[in-house]
Amino acid sequence: MVKSMIDDCRLLEFPQNGDERGHLVVVEGMKDIPFEIKRVFYIYGSDKDVIRGRHANYNTEFVLINVAGTSKVKVDDGTNQKVFDLDRPHIGIYLPKLVWKDMYDFSEDSVLLCLASEHYDAGEYIRDYDSYLAIMHNNKGV
Ligand code: TYD
Repeated sequence: MVKSMIDDCRLLEFPQNGDERGHLVVVEGMKDIPFEIKRVFYIYGSDKDVIRGRHANYNTEFVLINVAGTSKVKVDDGTNQKVFDLDRPHIGIYLPKLVWKDMYDFSEDSVLLCLASEHYDAGEYIRDYDSYLAIMHNNKGV
């Protein structure tokens, strides 16, 4: 069977350094995160019915972590789709480049931390789903 890009989207579990004072989770680039972290942003205050993301990136890989609250991430490679639950602060999802992603079902307290392998470049975002499908299907077999 042909390997799907969706198989490269995976949950990462980070060690919890907990003691009686609480928890501490460390994520280091090239160790816990499979790239050097060049950019960090976070998303909060999104209503439950909002869908964020709705794009793919030519060059950027991401790890998303719900450091508070919960959300869902739907990944799509133009052929296959899969939904991941982000529901614990020590769990992240790794997203390779060129995967289409929707983030949704945000809890009221959701804070979604996003670690990125590249600096922001609006030009490397694919924001039109039909264009994305065309890119992915032309890339088939490459
Ligand atoms: P957007 O990509 O639409 O967010 P999401 O992935 O959650 O759907 O970004 C929202 C706005 O923020 C948009 O105007 C672009 C800007 N932005 C930056 O300037 N730098 C960044 O690193 C990111 C992720 C977004």
